[in-house]
Amino acid sequence: MVDPDRSLFEPARVAEHYRRYLQPVLFDPWARRLVSYAGLVPGQTVLDVAAGTGAVARAAASVVGVGGRVIASDISRAMLAALAADLVAEPDQAAAPIDALECSAAAIALPDASVDVVLCHQGLPFMPDRVAVAREMRRVLRPGGTVFVAVWALGERLEPFDSYAAVVRRHLPDSPFARAMAGGTLSMTTGQVAEALTDGGFAQVAATLEHLAVRWPTLHDEARGIAGTPFGPEIATMDPEATAAILAELEETLTGAGGESVEHPLVAVFGRGTAAG
Ligand SMILES: C[S@@+](CC[C@H](N)C(=O)[O-])C[C@H]1O[C@@H](n2cnc3c(N)ncnc32)[C@H](O)[C@@H]1O
Repeated sequence: MVDPDRSLFEPARVAEHYRRYLQPVLFDPWARRLVSYAGLVPGQTVLDVAAGTGAVARAAASVVGVGGRVIASDISRAMLAALAADLVAEPDQAAAPIDALECSAAAIALPDASVDVVLCHQGLPFMPDRVAVAREMRRVLRPGGTVFVAVWALGERLEPFDSYAAVVRRHLPDSPFARAMAGGTLSMTTGQVAEALTDGGFAQVAATLEHLAVRWPTLHDEARGIAGTPFGPEIATMDPEATAAILAELEETLTGAGGESVEHPLVAVFGRGTAAG
């Protein structure tokens, strides 16, 4: 029997578990890929929209360096607090300072034309009005500035999230987040990303598929990653036995030959656009 560890599913601790179990293995490597795609240069001012616990903000800060500036914006105070704690625990003296900005992506609390680059990693699908968000990104960019967004590719396997959703659906058939995942509302096509950026007012829009595989060091950590997703608070409503069953089922579902974790090939859409003058 897997230890249910009730604190794993406390809603207030989603950000902490995201930072601990999901960011290092999955979001950090993908964030570095997006930052490399963006071709940042030292001295730039970069806005990371839906920054979460700061995977992209930290990767960008190390490229733009001490002469640059990074603003990490997110609607979630808890996610930004986890980033702040991380910056204190693991400071990078050679990196740009990172300022946290708590606001919705649909109303970014920055002046017009105030940043050189906007990055948004796995944030757009959570936003009800993606065109309005693209328009806001366009507004805060200086003329000639660029936006780079990444979202999971619609129709591609998305592990471990697909396994998380399948297990949760068996235990909580009405789970709203599992239903959203099954309905594909948390992934997008290259066409949908390009359309959102174009309709938001960007020029020179392009979208392409990017591939990168990830693998957790242990099945234990991979199964516990579920506590860092919106499934965490949903599971917190269940009794300890059901919670333990979910963790046990997950370890079983995600197991490869020899009872070890397996590599997950992942596909994302990377989109870009320029704020014309
Ligand atoms: C999957 S996480 C991605 C976080 C981060 N970009 C990363 O790659 O690790 C999605 C983030 O979007 C944020 N978010 C969702 N809706 C938002 C909105 N309307 N405005 C700003 N942030 C939002 C959430 O709070 C969460 O931190």
